Formats: sequence, C-alpha cells, structure tokens
Amino acid sequence: MSEIELRDVVQRFHARGTPSGFLTAVQSTSFTLRSDPPHIVSLVGQSGSGKSTIARIILGLQRPSSGLVTYGGRDIFKLSRAEYDDYRKNVQPVFQDPYAIFNPFYRVDRVLRTAIKKFSLASTAAEASSLMEESLLAVKLDPGQVLGRYPHQLSGGQRQRIMLARVHMLRPSFIIADEPVSMLDAQVRKLFLDILTDFRTTYGMTTLFITHDLSTVYYIGGEVMVITRGRIVEKGPVSTVMHTPSHPYTQLLLASVPQPDPDARWTDRIDIAQATAAEAGPEVPPEDEALEARVP
Ligand SMILES: Nc1ncnc2c1ncn2[C@@H]1O[C@H](COP(=O)(O)OP(=O)(O)O)[C@@H](O)[C@H]1O
Ligand SMILES: [Mg+2]
Repeated sequence: MSEIELRDVVQRFHARGTPSGFLTAVQSTSFTLRSDPPHIVSLVGQSGSGKSTIARIILGLQRPSSGLVTYGGRDIFKLSRAEYDDYRKNVQPVFQDPYAIFNPFYRVDRVLRTAIKKFSLASTAAEASSLMEESLLAVKLDPGQVLGRYPHQLSGGQRQRIMLARVHMLRPSFIIADEPVSMLDAQVRKLFLDILTDFRTTYGMTTLFITHDLSTVYYIGGEVMVITRGRIVEKGPVSTVMHTPSHPYTQLLLASVPQPDPDARWTDRIDIAQATAAEAGPEVPPEDEALEARVP
C-alpha cells in the first residue's frame, strides 16, 4: 500500500492590494490519500478555493510555503530526480483542458509515445503500438479513428480520453484529476466518470477528483472533502455529506444546485450572512501574521 499525506500544508502567494501583501490560497490542510483500498475522493469547492493549488502541490509542481507532502513517508520535495520520476509515474495528473497539453503541430499519438519512451513501457515499435491500441480500447476509443489525427481533429471528450489512455498505460496508484470533466458535455462526462470508476475496480487506482460541480461528486460517490477559502471544512462519505451537511458552507453549496423539477421549491432557509461569516473565519489566522512578516 502507498500513501500520499499532506500535513499542515499552507500556500501563500504575493497579492497586491491585500493588507498583508499576501493571499493564503491553502490554509493548514491535512489529508491522506491511500491506495488500499483503492477509492475515489472528491475535493469540491467553488472557483478560487485553492483546489488547483493543492493539486499542483501534490504533483510536486509547486512547493508549499510550509507543511509537508510525503509519499511512503518521504518528503516529495526531497526526492532525488530518479525517485521523483518514479513518484510521477505513480501519481498521474489529468487536467481540465487537454487541448493545452497537446502540441497542435503533432499528431495525438505523440502524447502516448512520449509516455512509452519516458517510462520505457515497450522495447519494440510493435509492442508500443499494441500497448497504445490496448489502452485506447480501454477508454472506449477506436484506435483507427484517433491515431494519426491532430488534436483539433478530435472532440474535447476524445482528447480527454486520450489522457486517460495515457493513465491506463502507466497504471499509476494515484490519479490527480483537476476539473477533468468541466469542459465536457453531460454524456461524455458520464463516460469519463465511469472510466475512472472502472480504473479503480479493475486496476486499483485511487483518484483525487477535483471539481466545483456537486452533481459529478454525487454521481461518482465515495468520499468527499469540501473546501472553501483554502480550508477543508467538511469530509466524509458522499451520501452523508450530501444528506446531512454539517458545515454552513456545504449547506450553501448544496442549496445552490438547481433543482431539475420546475415545481419544486426550496423548503429549507439558509441564513446566508451566517453561513458566510462561518466560512470566512479570520482572514489570516493570527499566528500566520507573524510568519508572513518573516517572508521576504
Ligand atoms: N501563482 C499564483 N500566484 C498568485 N495567486 C495565485 C496563484 N495561483 C493561484 N492563486 C490564487 O490562489 C487562490 C486559489 O487558486 P486555485 O488554487 O487556482 O483555486 P481553484 O482551483 O479552487 O479555482 C486564488 O485566489 C488564486 O487567484
Ligand atoms: Mg482550479
């Protein structure tokens, strides 16, 4: 079993126009992702709540201002190059806009071939081809239809599933998926989420599924962490959090989901002022102020 653990992770950014000159994007955050049993945990919160910053920190793309991220008990920012490469093979990202990952001048195959080369997944060209085909089929893509194409010749859903085919080839223990379905339409979104679930059951991959959209959290099930203003305010099984939310922010988030029934009316009243005050807390915790003063 492997574990990714975040312990008291804090991320500050320089921000003009704020009294301290800093903005705390992630406030003392701790949680653990475990590969055994494999599961899907959602991180849900509105735009600007710190979700992508957490994803970048886990992927080692951003060093936090303070706190620790460990993998197998070791600080990921202290790994050797070879160890970090191994970590990144085991912890694969899927981002919101796959179009940004593809180079428009190269055929989409390149995304897969680069992974095969970088991680030495095949020793012959024939082996590489069969590996690509197998992985494309696993994400319900027809190799004949996508291989040899340029990114603009594919739909957003096809491009995103090529990223999943890449994940399938690498068989990581963890997937960090940052708003992976936000740009897809409902049908393709469902297909994508079903493939993630399939990866969990078939290959034992654990996914951190990041989204601002509660309906996808509900669909995918498992566990959920609710984040607001850089702070995780509620965690638990999706069914519990959705049916008996304990934090005012979660209640507000749930109340903001439009009801599909035009005759349905809200029955619960939520005191917005109270909810906002509760979620806001002190803007910068007092102990942080002293720390910030020391940051050059
Ligand atoms: N590199 C950066 N420099 C300064 N501020 C940043 C940077 N990255 C993110 N932020 C700020 O941190 C906050 C959290 O951003 P982000 O993690 O992208 O949120 P989310 O993914 O939930 O929308 C936002 O206020 C954003 O403007
Ligand atoms: Mg984001």
